[in-house]
Amino acid sequence: MKVLVVGGGGREHAIVRALRRSPRAPEVLCAPGNPGIAADARTFAVGADDVPGLVDLARGEAVDLVVVGPEVALIAGLVDALGEAGIPAFGPVREAARLEGSKAFAKEIMAAAGVPTAAWTTVAGVEAGLAAVPSYPVAIKFDGLAAGKGVVIATDEEQAREALAAFLVERRYGPGDVVVEEFLVGEEVSLFALCDGERAVPMTPAQDYKRIFDGDAGPNTGGMGSYSPVAGVDAARAAQIAALVHQPVVDELARRGTPFHGVLYAGLMLTADGVRVIEFNARFGDPETQAVLPRLRSDLLDLVEAAVRPGGLRDARLEWDPRWAVTLVLASAGYPAAPRTGDAITGLDRVPDGVEVTHAGTARDDGALVTAGGRVLNVTALGDTPASARDAAYAAADLIEFEGRQLRRDIALRAVERTA
Ligand code: AMP
Ligand code: GLY
Repeated sequence: MKVLVVGGGGREHAIVRALRRSPRAPEVLCAPGNPGIAADARTFAVGADDVPGLVDLARGEAVDLVVVGPEVALIAGLVDALGEAGIPAFGPVREAARLEGSKAFAKEIMAAAGVPTAAWTTVAGVEAGLAAVPSYPVAIKFDGLAAGKGVVIATDEEQAREALAAFLVERRYGPGDVVVEEFLVGEEVSLFALCDGERAVPMTPAQDYKRIFDGDAGPNTGGMGSYSPVAGVDAARAAQIAALVHQPVVDELARRGTPFHGVLYAGLMLTADGVRVIEFNARFGDPETQAVLPRLRSDLLDLVEAAVRPGGLRDARLEWDPRWAVTLVLASAGYPAAPRTGDAITGLDRVPDGVEVTHAGTARDDGALVTAGGRVLNVTALGDTPASARDAAYAAADLIEFEGRQLRRDIALRAVERTA
């Protein structure tokens, strides 16, 4: 069994590791991968957005299955192209991946499927946008991919005008409309579901930390840490949420003839009025995956293979390690505005066994490991309590050094306080 994982970040490293834990002992390939992944899989210098290159690679290596990590590949139509080449791929086709690629499309699907989400209006102009604001604060969202920078929470009209102008007049992220959305108050939870075109099977909940600084201060990032599970969202509650949120979306996409296979990731707000969808992603989340997959006791290979077949997850039963997982992100100097690269990384050899270090943005420079991106490394530890998982993760992370390293100190503190 030969599996090709597409992508080259911490999420893909966690996927590669989980596939390698399969008792079926698959051969795991990765494109493009990174220096950390290269220790666990054969890597190939083909970019995640290079659809023809990836199809050629999958064909040339005669892989049995492709697992797609990042949204860029999905939205570029990688799963469609692999399908045409007769190569099974885990991930949605381009049309279904629009759930992530277009916020207006996601809203339309949710409306059609009766899924609870914040009230919204899609607008194409600044004045129409201002007229659509129900009250402040308000969420103003660019209707397309904007590398995590397409959402502004405006607290007054001046900020709203500025955001609308940036998206609709300056065209900061290219052409596209804007969704003006009711501000939701509550706690955020990420819930992934494995989908086989017909059925959505919830995984275990996680929370991520999006802001760069402690106490959720500073600009948004790709994610500075995560933990799993989440107090108050047990398996029964996760199943309830999936029945309310994920399953109706899977049904609606099947009805439209573009069934969703892969991971449907719902970013949820648990509000006083019940659960509301903030956003959908069409793939595993990063860094939640780094906390979720180490807790998966079922065979990920069996699951992704089943999800590719229509209805293949019918008998799937997911088993989870009851322990807590905490993932810390070590980010580079200057992240997120201007990440510095090329800083030498030391101390990895001192990390104890049992702590999982995944590589996100690293490179080799004359053999030495150096920083090569905003998020550099992820450190995941398991523990019987949130406190023990957290302590183990921080103890390991503090052994790893590079110039200007940024590390939030409050990851999973919420879980520790709740279970104290
Ligand atoms: P998104 O890219 O849609 O996930 O938005 C990024 C972040 O902005 C979310 O994780 C939330 O913290 C926040 N956010 C987005 N939409 C809303 C909303 N309607 N109400 C409150 N916070 C929001
Ligand atoms: N954890 C946020 C994301 O993957 O988009």
